[in-house]
Amino acid sequence: MSEQDKVATGITGLDEVLYGGLPAGSISLIQGSPGTGKTTLGLQFLIEGARKYNEAGIYITFEELPEQLYRDSASFGWDLKDLEKNNLLRVICIQPEVLIDHITKPNGLLENVIKTINCKRIVLDSVSLYRVLNTEAEARNKVYLLRNVFKKWGLTTLLINEIAGLQNPLEQNSFENYLSDGVIHLSLSKFMDKYRSRQLEILKMRGTKIVEGEHRFKFLDHGIHVIPALSMAEDKLIIKNSSDTISTGIQTLDDILSGGLQRGTTFTIDTNSKANYRYIVTALLAKRLEAGDKLISMMTNTSTIDTISFALSEYGICLNDLIKEQKAYFVDLFKRDIPVNSKQYHSGIIQITDFSEEGFRKQLQEKFSDIIQTNLASGGNWFVYYDLNVLISLLGISFTQRFFAEEALRCRLNGITMLAHINFAEISQAAGSVFERASNGIIRTWVDGNYQLLQVTKSPTGRMSAPHIIENIDEKPFLRLI
Ligand SMILES: Nc1ncnc2c1ncn2[C@@H]1O[C@H](COP(=O)(O)OP(=O)(O)OP(=O)(O)O)[C@@H](O)[C@H]1O
Ligand SMILES: [Mg+2]
Repeated sequence: MSEQDKVATGITGLDEVLYGGLPAGSISLIQGSPGTGKTTLGLQFLIEGARKYNEAGIYITFEELPEQLYRDSASFGWDLKDLEKNNLLRVICIQPEVLIDHITKPNGLLENVIKTINCKRIVLDSVSLYRVLNTEAEARNKVYLLRNVFKKWGLTTLLINEIAGLQNPLEQNSFENYLSDGVIHLSLSKFMDKYRSRQLEILKMRGTKIVEGEHRFKFLDHGIHVIPALSMAEDKLIIKNSSDTISTGIQTLDDILSGGLQRGTTFTIDTNSKANYRYIVTALLAKRLEAGDKLISMMTNTSTIDTISFALSEYGICLNDLIKEQKAYFVDLFKRDIPVNSKQYHSGIIQITDFSEEGFRKQLQEKFSDIIQTNLASGGNWFVYYDLNVLISLLGISFTQRFFAEEALRCRLNGITMLAHINFAEISQAAGSVFERASNGIIRTWVDGNYQLLQVTKSPTGRMSAPHIIENIDEKPFLRLI
């Protein structure tokens, strides 16, 4: 849907979760129990429409005394009378039956007003009264009639619908729901014992993408302010400083990360033993190698150079060539012999044999510093993969924490991108938070029933993602996120 087919509500955060706004000419239900903010949201839709987009709107209320409306609006700094004077707003107080009479007559009162002010938006507060005053069948016919007339006039419409507090909005299959293009549900719930929080959720919206989830909102001085779910304070500094974004090879993951990993950052993949992380890592390493990055990768106890070579060949990558060209190195911590028929890989395997803290550092440094420094000087890009579970088992947690923090810093300073793998569930929360802090991003994967899921729980942009299901596919990268 193109931009011009959208009607921005002008309400901060709401347009974001609607990917720009309501579909033009659509009918949406604003539903919620009493006091959840329906009237405020409806009015604000008209006020912002008038003030920000110069679009006129009509607010129809069945209340007999609209004085309260003007008073409440004034508390948000909304001057309804002024907008009415400028033909950008009309507040119409009318009885439900009279409204029906008017819209069925050609050139009735409402049609005249719509023409006079060139009305684009309309709010009806509230359709629930039709149910109170009629049988269900009559109510359905009347609301359906209103919907059709508003559609015919091309108005972007909000129908306010009061529903009882205990009703489960997801199970509600009322006629109001069926005849609307969209349903926005407002609710109030307990928050941290003594507080309450207000939520807004888009239960449906035909013709546009939406951001799923319960979005918190607040009444601020100027009206409703929606805070999209899973959004955190963005780290502007990191975003600004890293112009170089590199693909992970997994499209949806790239989209979540605004293009991919930022070069020079450190990402940690958190997984439990049930979840298969290896093919996620392989897909990522294969993509980086294909893109010309040079690789240093730690071999786990279950991977050998042969299994790695086979896995990469599935992605069309010849490990033999890369090793010959000095573009890929593998760290073996298990003092394994290299199989006789894999001797060609010899120069790419770095054996670490000393597991005293100093010895480990010294060996890594001696074997890599020269290679990396020479390459960095000539403009090469490096990608490093560490299996922290293995390091923890061989060298202990506190050494691994220090080592990881130092490595992350060293990588950042040299523009080396690092991916680390760890099982947070196996270490204490305090230990985990050290790794979390040292990482610019965390990708979590776990098994839930019959599905493996993946979620970005921390990213340099401050964005968290929704959980995605991992689906295996037949072509590269052999998985996708749904
Ligand atoms: N500026 C504000 N600050 C805090 N809370 C506010 C503010 N303005 C409104 N509210 C709260 O929101 C409540 C209802 O707002 P609103 O009238 O928009 O809800 P509603 O869903 O239309 O309610 P009703 O079902 O009674 O028509 C108020 O009763 C008040 O508690
Ligand atoms: Mg109300």
